[in-house]
Amino acid sequence: MSSSKESFRRRPKSTTATLVAGIRAHHLRWNESPIFADARAFDMLSLFWRLTIQNRLLNWLVVHKLLGAFHPIHTENILRIRYTEDRLQEAIRAGISQYVILGAGFDTFSLRHKELAERVRVFEVDHPATQRIKRQRVLAANGTIPPNLTFVPVDFETDRLNEALARSGFDPQAPAFFSWLGVIYYLTPEAIRSTLAHIAAVAAPGSYLVLDYKIARRLVPEESIPFTDKMERLVARLGEPMLSEFTPQELNDEMSGSGFMEIETVPPAEQARRYLQGRSDIVEPPPNFYFALFSLKSPSAEGSASRLP
Ligand SMILES: C[S@@+](CC[C@H](N)C(=O)[O-])C[C@H]1O[C@@H](n2cnc3c(N)ncnc32)[C@H](O)[C@@H]1O
Repeated sequence: MSSSKESFRRRPKSTTATLVAGIRAHHLRWNESPIFADARAFDMLSLFWRLTIQNRLLNWLVVHKLLGAFHPIHTENILRIRYTEDRLQEAIRAGISQYVILGAGFDTFSLRHKELAERVRVFEVDHPATQRIKRQRVLAANGTIPPNLTFVPVDFETDRLNEALARSGFDPQAPAFFSWLGVIYYLTPEAIRSTLAHIAAVAAPGSYLVLDYKIARRLVPEESIPFTDKMERLVARLGEPMLSEFTPQELNDEMSGSGFMEIETVPPAEQARRYLQGRSDIVEPPPNFYFALFSLKSPSAEGSASRLP
């Protein structure tokens, strides 16, 4: 085991998961016409981040002065959850009844969509260290765990996701929607490959998987390398070093080898075209994170991917 993985294992929880929830809460507090309105993200934060987001002076000092260089990451975080939940809602309208959030962190889907409690089972898969805090925050914010939410503790580096999901009441016969946001770049290539194999082993054909990934350094424009290095140094200092990156072709080959078919890949320019037109209050997304949507083929199928309507 590498020392970087050991350092994550020793941490009480994922710091990057808190930062992402903070970004969603900050976006709703400070941007008019939010691209993604997560009204429960604030409840997931520590006192320090609540004060920082609410207080004008602390917000200026921490979010703008200290962390201002990372604002393109805020944009990526907001756009990827908007993209994901747009696709998820389409899938739910088409009949999908299971949502598996891989590396869920402080995602609040089950708290925001109580109207779906009877129709959609939500499985939050995460490292036990992060999930312990998540459970406490959900209980503090909501009084109870939503009846359709199941916590599934899994370390992608060592555990078998398919067995953990099967033990948790996941229905392998019914197609599911999987999201894997802000996670795969923190995993080793072996953990990504084995997790994909476990999804393919447990999920029904016609299931979907949406993820974001870091593109290979050789594809990052020269002028963006200093930003990329700075961001990687920050998360490494937080104990969560980035361990994996792909070209779009490499990722599609990896996915195809595990039984998935690409529906679409959304590079940063397309992310901006879809969600940022006419907005001057939000910086462009960084050049090095792509979104991608896949569907799980049936073992015998060579044909085209099933398409969301
Ligand atoms: C940046 S956070 C993203 C959280 C959430 N998906 C979001 O977008 O708000 C990364 C998440 O990956 C999880 N994670 C990292 N390494 C993991 C591992 N080896 N096994 C399980 N979860 C892991 C962390 O616990 C954390 O919740």
